[in-house]
Amino acid sequence: MQTRPETQSTAQITPPYAIGLTTATEETTIAALPVEGRIPDWLTGSLIRTGPAKFEVGGESYRHWFDGLAMLTRFSFSDGRVSYVNRFLASDSFQEAMAKGKISRGEFGTTARNSFWERLRDPIPRPTDNANVNILPLGDRLVSTTEVPQPIVFNPDTLETLDKFPFDDHILGQMTTVHPHFDFDRQCLFNYLTAFGAPTKYNIYRMGFRSSRRELVASIPTKEPAYMHTFAMSDRYIILTEFPLRLNLLGLAMSGKPFIENYHWKTDRGTRFTIVDKDSGEVVKTCESEPFFSFHHINAFEQGDELLIDLAGYTDDKVVRDLYLNPLRTGQAGRATAAVKRYRLSLNKGDATGETLANETLELPRTHYRQINGKPYQFIYGAGNRILDNFNDQIVKINVNTGESVCWFEENCYPGEPVFVSAPNYSAEDEGILLSVVLNANCQKSFLLILDARSMTELARTEVPHVIPFQFHGQYFPAIEPAIVLSQVHR
Ligand SMILES: [Fe+2]
Repeated sequence: MQTRPETQSTAQITPPYAIGLTTATEETTIAALPVEGRIPDWLTGSLIRTGPAKFEVGGESYRHWFDGLAMLTRFSFSDGRVSYVNRFLASDSFQEAMAKGKISRGEFGTTARNSFWERLRDPIPRPTDNANVNILPLGDRLVSTTEVPQPIVFNPDTLETLDKFPFDDHILGQMTTVHPHFDFDRQCLFNYLTAFGAPTKYNIYRMGFRSSRRELVASIPTKEPAYMHTFAMSDRYIILTEFPLRLNLLGLAMSGKPFIENYHWKTDRGTRFTIVDKDSGEVVKTCESEPFFSFHHINAFEQGDELLIDLAGYTDDKVVRDLYLNPLRTGQAGRATAAVKRYRLSLNKGDATGETLANETLELPRTHYRQINGKPYQFIYGAGNRILDNFNDQIVKINVNTGESVCWFEENCYPGEPVFVSAPNYSAEDEGILLSVVLNANCQKSFLLILDARSMTELARTEVPHVIPFQFHGQYFPAIEPAIVLSQVHR
């Protein structure tokens, strides 16, 4: 059969992973997926994840990977069997878009093109609630979250969308992180809200594990807020890392540009670490380093008069532009990759110096969080790159003390964030498994991969009957009854 030249040409420039950036077409509930290998008997909970899964509405398209409308997925394990559910999140952004047949609310890299009459009716654009970034336990509920601080509660059994999370306080802020830190000694989580104004403030708060009331810990003013997707937490401190990707607040209000395009890279500002005492709320030190960018902190811990901060670091903000859908789908980005960096902050002198801990690059880092966060540790797991300019194509385990790495790789397979689940009664930090949703571009379906975290060898895999578009984050819950979620999360 003869192939038309234009088809050949398209095939040549479309990388195999691009199907992971296309719209999901079905919602399913499957009682038992086919399993290859053996699932550990002790694995009896659920992996619940969220991610962008609808990239077009009517004739309009979202522009950035981070923009797609959210879909939740759940893999549940029982007696070696695996059930599966996927559902779109019925956020206001989703429902309005479906009702209007067009993009209704602006996202990270997309603006909504509203008519004159729509702007007259709603002169102040409504913020998105498209919670496509992370799953969290808050109070006695499970929520899906994005960086606009309005988490959405869902039913963990059916993944049905239920309601907005009812915060019981009046702490101000228009932006947040989807990566709060859980402090098991203090039985609370820490996070912050960025409250835009004159001046803009980072409002750091704590919230009890079983509470819905946030309590202000510190309010730190800034003239030009930085784009910060995560922050770090050690035993005693919260650390905000302000990269030189800084917001033009007037532009955000007036420019008509998508949210992230109002942030500008200002190399000469360097990167500033602000170290805040968790209990008193006092800023104990600020440290400056060379400019760099990061989405994800990995860990932080105190050592003598130093604070060590590990993160997945980029030399600048190019990665933000690389993740627009057009360059990503066509493989044109020459995508920036993140090195595992360690910054040593001197609590006496206020300086900060960085070093690279390993040769392998990775993103979407996970650790044995409950055991090691805020403490010295050994292992990071993440989605990395074996082939230059490819999408994430391997799962990487890095020993931060030696720089040694072990990888899982299979050709034309694209793994997402590897979620670490500790084995019952573990004694070693890496005694457990990794759960990663992988796109198999060979057969254009996704599967859940279960790796032994010590050896990085495959224990089992279970395939779903469709592509799960690339997701960002999720959590494993040993049980999904809300009352016991918090006591067990992040084991
Ligand atoms: Fe993240």
